[in-house]
Amino acid sequence: MLPSLLLFSLLLSNFRPACAATAEQWRTRSIYQVITDRFALEPGAVVNECVISNSTWCGGTWNSIRENLNYIQDAGFTAIWISPINQNYEGPRTAYGDPYHGYWPADVSQLNEHFGTADDLKALSAELHLSLTQEKKELIEQVDIVVNNVMATSLTPDYSSYMFKSAEYYHPYCVIDWTNLTSEQQCWLGDTTVPLPDLNSENSDVVSQYSSWISDLVQTYSIDGLRIDAAKHIRASFWPAFAQSAGVFCMGEVFDPSVPNVAEFQGPGALDSVLNYPAYYALVSAFALPGPQNISALTDTISQSKTALGNFLENQDVPRWHNLSVDPQSMYNAMSFSFLSDGIPIVYYGQEQGFSGNADPYNREPLWPSNYTNTSSYQLMTTLNQLRNFLVNTTDWATQSMDVITSNDHGLAFQKGNIVTILTNIGAPPQNFTNTAFQSPWAHGTVTIDVIACRQFVVASGGYLEVEYTKGGVPVVLAESSFLQGSGLCGATLAALHDSSTGDVVAQSSASRHTPLVWLAVPLFLMSVSLGSW
Ligand SMILES: *[C@@H]1O[C@H](CO)[C@@H](O)[C@H](O)[C@H]1NC(C)=O
Ligand SMILES: *[C@@H]1O[C@H](CO)[C@@H](O)[C@H](O)[C@H]1NC(C)=O
Ligand SMILES: *[C@@H]1O[C@H](CO)[C@@H](O)[C@H](O)[C@H]1NC(C)=O
Ligand SMILES: *[C@@H]1O[C@H](CO)[C@@H](O)[C@H](O)[C@H]1NC(C)=O
Ligand SMILES: *[C@@H]1O[C@H](CO)[C@@H](O)[C@H](O)[C@H]1NC(C)=O
Ligand SMILES: *[C@@H]1O[C@H](CO)[C@@H](O)[C@H](O)[C@H]1NC(C)=O
Ligand SMILES: *[C@@H]1O[C@H](CO)[C@@H](O)[C@H](O)[C@H]1NC(C)=O
Ligand SMILES: *[C@@H]1O[C@H](CO)[C@@H](O)[C@H](O)[C@H]1NC(C)=O
Repeated sequence: MLPSLLLFSLLLSNFRPACAATAEQWRTRSIYQVITDRFALEPGAVVNECVISNSTWCGGTWNSIRENLNYIQDAGFTAIWISPINQNYEGPRTAYGDPYHGYWPADVSQLNEHFGTADDLKALSAELHLSLTQEKKELIEQVDIVVNNVMATSLTPDYSSYMFKSAEYYHPYCVIDWTNLTSEQQCWLGDTTVPLPDLNSENSDVVSQYSSWISDLVQTYSIDGLRIDAAKHIRASFWPAFAQSAGVFCMGEVFDPSVPNVAEFQGPGALDSVLNYPAYYALVSAFALPGPQNISALTDTISQSKTALGNFLENQDVPRWHNLSVDPQSMYNAMSFSFLSDGIPIVYYGQEQGFSGNADPYNREPLWPSNYTNTSSYQLMTTLNQLRNFLVNTTDWATQSMDVITSNDHGLAFQKGNIVTILTNIGAPPQNFTNTAFQSPWAHGTVTIDVIACRQFVVASGGYLEVEYTKGGVPVVLAESSFLQGSGLCGATLAALHDSSTGDVVAQSSASRHTPLVWLAVPLFLMSVSLGSW
């Protein structure tokens, strides 16, 4: 399953300068997020040496990412996000471990030697941009950067080894008042054990040096986009000029559940995009089991924000989904939301392997003990990517807005372009629970396909659809079958859509019923999903 190693000389010969992707192009992409240290080992490395609680380097490098890109490409991703590349603190191990994650910058004008050389990083970038053969689709690269702060081990650090070498470039130390945004932007993150000295982004020298730094970085390594750590901790008005110098798509981290607070950092006065923390909190609230099962939290968030944000269920700062929710179907439903609602889907490495670590450092597991297995979650992710790639290739789906068709305490149905997605929070156990019937966008007699289970359904009179969950709370993703021709999904012909392995009768519409389309939701296929990899 791991890719063949392409020769370095071949990569260099195909290397071409950055043709930076625009925000419009990024909207069509789906992103796989990796922590460089934890994604893959170099050949010959000892596999059992990574002790997560040690919070130290486990051996992943830019080369080992490059050598294992097939795992990402085979799942249909079209972009990767890699953890910060710049030099970090070098010194005795702190109480919080070593900066294997890359988020403790020192001299950001240098690369981080733990992860390889400049040529290694260029080779990774070149391979990402390579599309030599039809099977090898081009991936684009988003690099994580830390601009807000550096890392130190005292409140009065010697700055001579940093890119900004004197205290005048930093805000004076103060403790953050989390009720005051100015304080969040000018006081120091971290604590007294590992303080994170805050760059004075009001200082014009800081502004201009950062500007030339990011311009050089993006061009030298052919970076297509930036993920900006702690973007909320710098005044929003800093970002437009910075992003202009970068010349690429910028997605900021604004770690905040509130739509208005997050929205302040997206738009012409700030950044192209931000991570969708409001939707993250809402998805946990709506789908985690056990949990409040609050679908309104999700529909409220959808109604407040209709822009291209980065949708995610996990990252290096929040617990794994399976630490919050034990039910596999809860993740499949939430994952379907990430891919098929407005925004850019982001999957954090290991989510597809059922990792379940809690907060830092336990949510930064090495991926290799999973053997990169083709799990049920990996397959669901692949299907969702295949559908989404087809949609963005063949229609203006990426720029269409989602509309919630209906919602109740147990789920919601929404439409975006040609797709209707029906999600539920009832979980894996079978239930004789019927969601509210709702009017689909399709006319009576339309043949539709659930692309996840490859089942065919015919829309009944009045355009009504109804979903029944006798086999558990599976996500349902419907498209007109005629539309799917050529997508490679669920076979090319309708005949292939009947699931002969289960022997179940596929439900059909019946004009005599009040709820004409009865969904006998997904028998053996999804039972094997829920048993297969957990
Ligand atoms: C990691 O932790 C184990 C067990 O606590 C310890 O034996 C080992 O020396 C540690 N390794 C490193 C590199 O710190
Ligand atoms: C907010 O924080 C800033 C920076 O620390 C401080 O100057 C200002 O007085 C604070 N405002 C309030 C209302 O506390
Ligand atoms: C559900 O979330 C909404 C916020 O969108 C909140 O107003 C409401 O109180 C929540 N309901 C419960 C039962 O927690
Ligand atoms: C959540 O993470 C913690 C720490 O890694 C772990 O001890 C616990 O078992 C996890 N819970 C689940 C449900 O996986
Ligand atoms: C990965 O492979 C090793 C060696 O064959 C095996 O011991 C281990 O159980 C496998 N892990 C998973 C998650 O499949
Ligand atoms: C994963 O398994 C599915 C089902 O067997 C298969 O269709 C798919 O090609 C596999 N993916 C990879 C990358 O091997
Ligand atoms: C999308 O379009 C590209 C370029 O034409 C093509 O290589 C790729 O196979 C298409 N993908 C899908 C899923 O249609
Ligand atoms: C659902 O209802 C059918 C028919 O009433 C019954 O046979 C079946 O046992 C019920 N299943 C569950 C999980 O309640």
